Amino acid sequence: MTVTAETPIATTEAPARLELPPLKLGKLTVDVPVVLAPMAGITNKAFRRLCREYGGGLYVAEMVTSRALVERNDMSMRIISHDEDEAVRSVQLYGVDPHTVGAAVRLLVEEDRADHIDLNFGCPVPKVTRRGGGSALPWKTDLFTAIVNAATREAARGDVPLTIKMRKGIDEDHLTFIEAGKIARDAGVAAVALHGRTASQHYSGQADWNAIAELRESLPDIPVLGNGDIWSAEDAVRMVEQTGVDGVVIGRGCQGRPWLFGDLQAAFEGTDRRFRPGLKEVADSFHRHAELLVDYFEDEGKALRDIRKHVAWYFKGYTVGGELRAALAAVPTLEVLRELLAQLDADAPYPGADAEGPRGRAGSPKRTALPDGWLESRELSAAHKSMISAAELDVSGG
Ligand SMILES: Cc1cc2nc3c(=O)[nH]c(=O)nc-3n(C[C@H](O)[C@H](O)[C@H](O)COP(=O)(O)O)c2cc1C
Repeated sequence: MTVTAETPIATTEAPARLELPPLKLGKLTVDVPVVLAPMAGITNKAFRRLCREYGGGLYVAEMVTSRALVERNDMSMRIISHDEDEAVRSVQLYGVDPHTVGAAVRLLVEEDRADHIDLNFGCPVPKVTRRGGGSALPWKTDLFTAIVNAATREAARGDVPLTIKMRKGIDEDHLTFIEAGKIARDAGVAAVALHGRTASQHYSGQADWNAIAELRESLPDIPVLGNGDIWSAEDAVRMVEQTGVDGVVIGRGCQGRPWLFGDLQAAFEGTDRRFRPGLKEVADSFHRHAELLVDYFEDEGKALRDIRKHVAWYFKGYTVGGELRAALAAVPTLEVLRELLAQLDADAPYPGADAEGPRGRAGSPKRTALPDGWLESRELSAAHKSMISAAELDVSGG
């Protein structure tokens, strides 16, 4: 059993309320304007199922590399797989070469494997930016334009809405988001999402919601989605109020807390219903997550290795002894998992603020690794051009 609508709820005195229309992405209507951010290694079919059981929204798969998808490697096909009851099959592509990205979109469209496609221009991981990919890419306006044009052209053939997700820029001296947003709009994207950080911030500091508001104002004709540092339904409402965005994108805030999507739906419906699970309910969700991962990977050992990284997120703020935490973080099988979870205090209530707030990646600012000479011009040099076509890596990042 997981947390349900019958779970005891906390009532706040002044509930966050908001009237926001459904999010329109081309022909799609997303009733609750909330998006699960693509997260490599997290937002697979298993986690998406858990999240969407709590609330409406758009649930994006972890990114897949265009090259690997075109080559149909096993992991890529698994990443883009969806449950039969996923109403909107959403896929995120990463790529640096217009031809390969176009081919990946064509594959998804022609084979009817996606109802929504997002392009990743936000990844700050050095092995990606060092090759001019992810958040380094919009700096090269010619390359960025060519990729988005190729992708929208192919997506339009199947009337599949295509969106982009980006950061503010490489660093504060090399901001690209307004220009990139306009290029993407002109190419016909259905929406743009902005994570309010630069690449060099990685996940440090605070997301700049003013930049999100600025983008919203600069693109009056398409939906703009805001991303960064939403840890609660109340944060989501604040972001909409402060920036005017058409929807919110949630990443780390839901790690170990799929019920956040229930809170978000409630807030957007103007109710004060919030999920406040006790330890037993958290343990049940954790166990269910592990079971779903076994189905996803079709490999119990792999699934159990994967669930280990979720331990600290699920049990943040709950009383779980150090030894038990350590054992959970090394759990080998579902059977051992059940034994370990049975040792938890089934009556321990929701711990309040300790279970809330920031979680997941943080880190410190770092100078962004870039190809030599990348910042010297906004256009690709011949040398960068040849590097780019060899740079479609098998990456996973964020
Ligand atoms: C573990 C992890 C993996 C990520 N993977 C991706 C990814 O595959 N594609 C992407 O566009 N962003 C990725 N991101 C970035 C998130 O989608 C999101 O933009 C970022 O975490 C900021 O939102 P948040 O403050 O709500 O977490 C990743 C983030 C994390 C923490």
